[in-house]
Amino acid sequence: MSTITIIGTGLMCNALGYGWTEAGHSIRVGTRTPDGDHALRFTASFVGGYAEALDGSDAVVLAIPFPAVKGFIEAHRQHLDGKLIIDISNPFDHLAGNERAAAEFTAEALGTTDMLVAAFKDNFAATINDPTAADGKPAQVKVAADDPAAKAALEPLIRDLGLRALDCGPLGNARYIDAMVSLMLILDRSHAGFTMHTGWAFTGLETTR
Ligand SMILES: NC(=O)c1ccc[n+]([C@@H]2O[C@H](COP(=O)([O-])OP(=O)(O)OC[C@H]3O[C@@H](n4cnc5c(N)ncnc54)[C@H](OP(=O)(O)O)[C@@H]3O)[C@@H](O)[C@H]2O)c1
Repeated sequence: MSTITIIGTGLMCNALGYGWTEAGHSIRVGTRTPDGDHALRFTASFVGGYAEALDGSDAVVLAIPFPAVKGFIEAHRQHLDGKLIIDISNPFDHLAGNERAAAEFTAEALGTTDMLVAAFKDNFAATINDPTAADGKPAQVKVAADDPAAKAALEPLIRDLGLRALDCGPLGNARYIDAMVSLMLILDRSHAGFTMHTGWAFTGLETTR
């Protein structure tokens, strides 16, 4: 069992938190409003301020908007040491052109790519707890990281959600995933009525379980 801190209390917090608590993990949730009424879909072991939420966890999910990530890291860097950092944030128009990945800015703020992964970027929240893709196989979670230990730490957590990890190479490759998310939104809107149940699946890859 891992202890995972999720920062932010929105759609992705609920989807990941629900999936991981069902798999037996302990979820601590960090919010800007510790006294607020957070109606989560799962039972968290802690809901409250960022620093306390980070206490004693093995992994941290940045489930907040991309523009908020840098400030969060700068304010809480001392609580992040040694933890797996899972950057799920999508930059959209904040990084128009996608010359660099959102996760590279996260690395800059952290001062390292150690234990940092970009993942879940193109997994709509609605698909996380309904993980069978149209091809009948578990949906893919594209993972980009420079640190092999980070990929190795995330892989079992992805499997516990009923999903499968797809190693997309180094952290910088996350810029391609960032761009895929923008196209995914366009296609979801134009071809699926904006249901947000769509997703990208690469076929024919021997490395894909
Ligand atoms: N929704 C998806 O399908 C999806 C899929 C993949 C990746 N993502 C990415 O995952 C991240 C979270 O997405 P989401 O859909 O869960 O968003 P969301 O439903 O809007 O929730 C984001 C949460 O972040 C916190 N937050 C909002 N504005 C903030 C700010 N300015 N500074 C700090 N915290 C703030 C809020 O929690 P508190 O008020 O409790 O602090 C809010 O509940 C985003 O970066 C998004 O691009 C989303």
